[in-house]
Amino acid sequence: MKILTIFGTRPEAIKLAPVIKELQKSALIESRVCVTAQHREMLDQVLEVFHIVPDCDLDIMHEDQSLFDITSCALRLLEDVLKEEGPDIVLIQGDTTTAFVASLAAYYLKIKIGHVEAGLRTADKFNPFPEEINRRLVDVLSDLWFAPTQKAKANLLREGFPSGNIFVTGNTVIDALFFTLNREVPIARQQWLSDLGLSRGDSRLILVTGHRRESFGEGFKQICYGLQKIAEHNKDLQIVYPVHLNPRVQEPVHRILGGIENISLIEPLDYERFVWLMNQCYLVLTDSGGIQEEASSLGKPILVMREKTERPEAVEAGIARLVGTDCDKIFTETQRLLDNSAIYEKMGKAISTFGDGRAAERIVEILLNHVK
Ligand code: UD1
Ligand code: UDP
Repeated sequence: MKILTIFGTRPEAIKLAPVIKELQKSALIESRVCVTAQHREMLDQVLEVFHIVPDCDLDIMHEDQSLFDITSCALRLLEDVLKEEGPDIVLIQGDTTTAFVASLAAYYLKIKIGHVEAGLRTADKFNPFPEEINRRLVDVLSDLWFAPTQKAKANLLREGFPSGNIFVTGNTVIDALFFTLNREVPIARQQWLSDLGLSRGDSRLILVTGHRRESFGEGFKQICYGLQKIAEHNKDLQIVYPVHLNPRVQEPVHRILGGIENISLIEPLDYERFVWLMNQCYLVLTDSGGIQEEASSLGKPILVMREKTERPEAVEAGIARLVGTDCDKIFTETQRLLDNSAIYEKMGKAISTFGDGRAAERIVEILLNHVK
């Protein structure tokens, strides 16, 4: 059986790496990998850490690309790739524009589609934008749905997808996380904090990430003012922010937060270092999807800088809170966690709802039993 895995961005690569590794183990499967490279440097960092060499690289990224650029460019190029490869099924992950376009291209050629991380929903088509619509479109076009949780499966059933082809597997990001945590510690890792300029004794670390399109402009300004206020009121604290390479993120973040002593603005970290830092930090402020899942597994309290989340499991378990992008709300909620150890301890309890580290194994087993 020939399986073509298609992806384009950092989070898809992290979440598909365990699946690709598992596909490669099976003698019954010919595994091929195509990247659109909707991301470049941030994708390459992941490919390197997981030792994945794509069979085909469309190299589409350019600076400040629009949704039209990604969609039209990837769609055009994927036609030839799919015709040449002729896979029995394509595997797609999540809700990026690469994921949507790859599933559309496969559908046009009547090739089966397996959707990893199917069924996530906020029920608000502009939050997150354009991911909520991307994932709904991928689900409509798919033939096999790998739902990470029971809630995701329930969303798919509610929308009328056939129950026989929906499988609850756990999220493959937890496979990637456990794999990375269990890797042998290179001696150099002890040096990482000081290499990053973060060796400030035992100061508490707040890890920050942010990149969502719906927050461009005012949202990002508010996030930055919130971080500025936290830094000012807590001089003993270190904020570490690996800044996404999107120029719409880089500009406000560096303009507003550059030069503040206890805020470290750093380049995106490779996955190994990022996981290590996440494990060291006191709490996480993020708008990322994957980090909500990983930090939940690590027992790190998460303040989600978004209005809505498609991962309600973390909020319901009490480890995550939605704080939106309002400067004062971000400051107040963070300060509460810094000042009140009872609230902090109540929130900081690891949950296993997002997976047990064996999702990729299940996905490959299902593919072997259900394709052809
Ligand atoms: C994309 C996905 C989003 C996902 C996010 C993960 C879409 C529409 N958005 O958003 O769902 O959550 O990735 O990070 O699919 N850039 C670089 N180098 C890189 C990566 C990005 O320079 O390695 C810059 C480029 O200027 C690029 C811009 O960032 O044009 C935006 O990249 P893009 O993939 O369009 O959007 P993201 O915000 O990264
Ligand atoms: N991540 C990383 N380096 C960083 C920031 C994040 O490796 O500097 C990882 C993180 O652990 C998670 C994924 O990238 O697995 C999240 O990516 P992102 O926030 O870009 O996308 P989203 O999850 O929101 O789609």
